[in-house]
Amino acid sequence: MIERKIEAIVHICEMAELSEEERELVDAAKQATEGSYAPYSKFNVGAAVLLQNGIIVRGANQENAAYPSGLCAERTALFAAGAQHPDQPVVALAIAARKGRRFLPQPISPCGACRQVISGVEERYGVPIRILLYGTEGVLVSEGISPLLPLRFADKDMQIG
Ligand code: THU
Repeated sequence: MIERKIEAIVHICEMAELSEEERELVDAAKQATEGSYAPYSKFNVGAAVLLQNGIIVRGANQENAAYPSGLCAERTALFAAGAQHPDQPVVALAIAARKGRRFLPQPISPCGACRQVISGVEERYGVPIRILLYGTEGVLVSEGISPLLPLRFADKDMQIG
């Protein structure tokens, strides 16, 4: 048996340590929570996608009485960006969540399905996506999806062509 260690390096930053563009993206994710429709969970999540040309596309979680029919903020934003700006690589993604009016002290992490979609968007454009997970006590920064989704299923695994 071979044991293999998988390392994941992320950074926890204060807002002041982020660039102005990143702070703006985090603010856009916080603002995006206003578009959340979450009457069931009452958990409001916002996401903001930064495109290579500087455009920011926002998304928020959208729920449905048939629970699995809803969609997370991250995928709402990423799919909107892909549909509206198909030629623009996604370079960064910020996520923020609140309960009531209070943003959470610790960042939330994208669910498994959203991680897979982030991975797919990285593959689509061949560019790693800088992920900024906002919490009032700090922002977790991941350089690409890899640290959050090691051993991921990707195009190469299908060995098509
Ligand atoms: N949710 C997101 O939008 N993003 C996440 O990263 C985690 C969960 C949403 C889905 C659902 O509307 C609510 O939060 C509770 O799970």
